[in-house]
Amino acid sequence: MTNPPINQPVDFEHFITREHTDCVKYDARAARFGRADVIPLWVADMDFAAPDCVRHALAERVAHPIYGYSIYTDEFFTAIINWQQARHSWQVSREAIVPLPGIVPALNLLIQALTQPGDGVLVQTPVYPPIHQLPLNHSCVLLENALIQTPQGALIDWPDFEEKIAQARVFVLCSPHNPVGRVWQLDELTRIAEVCARQNVIVLVDEVHADLVFSPHRHIPFARVMAAKNTRCITLNAPSKTFNIAGLNTAYALVEHPALRDQLTHALQAAGLTSGHCFGITALIAAYQKGAPWLDQLRVALQHNRDFVVDYFNQNNHGISVVRPEASFLLWLDCNALMARKNLPNDAALADFFIQKAKLGLNPGLSFGTPGAGFMRLNIGCPLSVLKTALNQLNQAINADN
Ligand SMILES: Cc1ncc(COP(=O)(O)O)c(C=O)c1O
Repeated sequence: MTNPPINQPVDFEHFITREHTDCVKYDARAARFGRADVIPLWVADMDFAAPDCVRHALAERVAHPIYGYSIYTDEFFTAIINWQQARHSWQVSREAIVPLPGIVPALNLLIQALTQPGDGVLVQTPVYPPIHQLPLNHSCVLLENALIQTPQGALIDWPDFEEKIAQARVFVLCSPHNPVGRVWQLDELTRIAEVCARQNVIVLVDEVHADLVFSPHRHIPFARVMAAKNTRCITLNAPSKTFNIAGLNTAYALVEHPALRDQLTHALQAAGLTSGHCFGITALIAAYQKGAPWLDQLRVALQHNRDFVVDYFNQNNHGISVVRPEASFLLWLDCNALMARKNLPNDAALADFFIQKAKLGLNPGLSFGTPGAGFMRLNIGCPLSVLKTALNQLNQAINADN
């Protein structure tokens, strides 16, 4: 690859065939949905090429024929520090950064390290399934603070939050929140920090969607808020969602609290997870050093897709309603009225309707916890033309006689 010009316009309408690349989204369709011809709008990666700066850096690395064990270089740490400062006005120290092979593995190691069987772990449902699964994985008690779904967006049920926090050892905050698309505001984050500090609860904050926030919303790193509140917290982040490089298994934790950092480092060592991914390190450095112009164009394209699909559901009385998400490429579709209209008696029938009648592959809401009943999650990280075809198929299925 030749070195790409910086700031060139990106064509997010270009359709790239992904079949036969062993990608989950396309190549696992038959296993997941029982048929391989559904339009895949599920697992949270995007159908867009990674930025040229990342591809160029990877091509250079691949050209060297030895792919042995890799170290996390000074450049890796500096790229993270500069990115957090530039994008989120957050000054993190070099010592606070702990490289990770992924956020989900780290969340599991942390729950294992920080809890005893029977301890309470609080999550806000509906929530990303591997977060919902965490307490169960480690014989902890699942405490659910169900979000209040309103037409303006999901809100925190504060009396319930305070009650549950009192029973919890760890709280896992998803910020911005997958799947409801909320970008938590300063007053909400401040109140969470205060309550957790008061109850001495450790907060694990998953900020992997933080770079994909739409104007006028603004992501506020939780650790920046809690710094004054003396809360113990660990932030988890990665360039994986931002730059569509999830297959490179490279993430990091930001932990200013020395004792918590030692616990994480020890857990990683004990699990043999300290070695870096030779391509992941290269990709993170390139993305964080040079990917900002691409990201700014991506956010415009995603916002356009979001508005098109949300407006479509608002204008067509299908029985599907959706709140405009404040971040990321996931829409949380309320299908309860559709279920009534099409005589779909339960969530299995709803999922079946999407697969068999509309030929669309979405995530069923129930996998995000019981408040997800009657919902489906739609991934809009693809060319708009794909979404238009999907909406046509859905429209036809809804208007068909049976
Ligand atoms: C909130 C959230 N956390 C974590 C992940 C995945 O992180 P990783 O691939 O680093 O384990 C996702 C992917 O969808 C996500 O939405």
